[in-house]
Amino acid sequence: MTVSHTARLLVVGDDDFGAAAADAILQRLPDRRPRLGIATGDTPMPLYSELARRVRSGQIDVSTGFLIALDEYVGLGSQDPRSYAAYVRTQVGAPMGIPAGNILVPDGLAVDPDAEAEAFERRIGDLGGVDVQVAGIGSNGHLAFNEPGSPLDSITRVVTLSEQTRSDNARFFGSSSDVPHRAITQGIATICRARSVVLLARGSSKAAALAAALTGPVDTWIPASVLQRHPAVTVIADRPAAADLPTMRY
Ligand code: F6R
Repeated sequence: MTVSHTARLLVVGDDDFGAAAADAILQRLPDRRPRLGIATGDTPMPLYSELARRVRSGQIDVSTGFLIALDEYVGLGSQDPRSYAAYVRTQVGAPMGIPAGNILVPDGLAVDPDAEAEAFERRIGDLGGVDVQVAGIGSNGHLAFNEPGSPLDSITRVVTLSEQTRSDNARFFGSSSDVPHRAITQGIATICRARSVVLLARGSSKAAALAAALTGPVDTWIPASVLQRHPAVTVIADRPAAADLPTMRY
């Protein structure tokens, strides 16, 4: 198959997903002052539960670490439970013992979202960049909220969400009409500056996008395909998400 020569692909069963993802991340995360890039959503939940379990059992200590979010909805404040700020704080930071002051999420209520996006890009650089980026993939191939057609050299900016993404995320809001129309997202170039990327995919709704991203051409219409050019990517998929990958035929 044509997954880029430096990428590793692991296809795992549901019970092993969290542990496989945690192992992949911890192998690449420095002990001192680790900077972990956080994707939100359903896919990485087993990973965050497993990391929290290892923290509780004393296997790892990441309390000096930083969490850097990929994106945030414009119009949602950090106290809104549907915001990504709330997700990162409650699902990742608190269970992993990372202080709130070490969590960076774009401010969805910023008066000037464009200026907030620019400032967020600078904050990532000031922190020294991301050591390991956890990423998911949209059913339309999006990477963070870089929707199909996003420039490969894009940096953090305000974007308009596609109808597909708003409908996919309606489950967190009650209905798609309640899903915000805009978001601040790290750009494709921003994400590619992370030293390593661990791309996670679960479920059959991701199968076509994952196959296109890993085995098709690098194409702005499948933003996650840009990861073929990244020098250190691990892809972890469950069997339904991996079903369209050519390797599954053998
Ligand atoms: C979330 C993000 C998105 C999700 C993707 C998959 O911060 O940037 O790209 O990773 O939409 O979402 P789930 O995992 O909910 O299917």
